[in-house]
Amino acid sequence: MHYCLYGDELDKKQAAMLRVIDGLWETHEWVPISKIETRLPWNRLVIKNRIRDLEKTGMISWNLSKMNEPAVRMTETGRDTLVVWELRNKGIIDDIGHVIGEGKEAVVVLALKDEQERVIKFHRYYSAEFQRISRSMAFTALRLFRKRIGKTSRPIDIAKAKARIEFNALKTLWPKVNVPEPFAINRHAIVMEFIGDKTAAPLLSDTKPEKGLEDEILTQYERAVSLGIVHGELSQYNILMQDRPVIIDWPQSVPADYQGADSIKQADIARIESFFSSFSFS
Ligand SMILES: Nc1ncnc2c1ncn2[C@@H]1O[C@H](COP(=O)(O)OP(=O)(O)OP(=O)(O)O)[C@@H](O)[C@H]1O
Ligand SMILES: [Mg+2]
Repeated sequence: MHYCLYGDELDKKQAAMLRVIDGLWETHEWVPISKIETRLPWNRLVIKNRIRDLEKTGMISWNLSKMNEPAVRMTETGRDTLVVWELRNKGIIDDIGHVIGEGKEAVVVLALKDEQERVIKFHRYYSAEFQRISRSMAFTALRLFRKRIGKTSRPIDIAKAKARIEFNALKTLWPKVNVPEPFAINRHAIVMEFIGDKTAAPLLSDTKPEKGLEDEILTQYERAVSLGIVHGELSQYNILMQDRPVIIDWPQSVPADYQGADSIKQADIARIESFFSSFSFS
């Protein structure tokens, strides 16, 4: 897995070049080398060498079918590495560690800042996921999601939109609701508080809940709704148990006043009630 990439394998010139490619990629499916040359103050040979280095380390790939006009684009590894490089440069993290969660929709990686743990959640988007979302998301939430991502169908833009939705939700909710403190957003990644103590806190699904916990969770949930946000995928798999329940994973959240938000809310609550109904408390 490519999280052995710490961002420091890029030198300043490579990072500058990746940024240029990233910027041009907004308008070019494949970025022609001639365009890169106009954006950087280096001679051809330097540019050629940098591109070769970036290709060797898997940060970019060539479009071989268009060799009459050589063109490149960034790989997933390149995009993640640029994010890590910028986060380090901005002092949001000092270092990056191992993967603590990897699903179909995101990769969650440990990071360090002043000896304190943080996490980076890299949002992903694969077209198979859209089918899954289409099946699982309430119709109105799906419509809103489509509206938010606009006309784009590029996976990276959708991943960026999800990061933005999750980051905005955390910004609105923290610290009034038990959610991880959000620190930064960079492209398709967000940096937030690490919930745990050395190791990540267990999911609610892996714990034996105590009496009163259901009420505590529903109180937190209602507070989020009163602040204008409906989670949309609340379940025992999106609650971390530290000394209190912490609700995570907000990229599918919808505004509480959105048409249809109420049925999404009822489904959230029903999942929690159903989880707790299998325990008997004396
Ligand atoms: N702030 C955090 N602190 C500690 N661990 C976290 C944090 N955020 C996420 N994790 C870990 O990463 C896992 C995945 O995170 P999250 O639920 O946000 O992403 P996801 O896209 O739903 O991934 P998955 O498909 O695996 O559920 C969580 O189950 C949890 O173990
Ligand atoms: Mg999750």
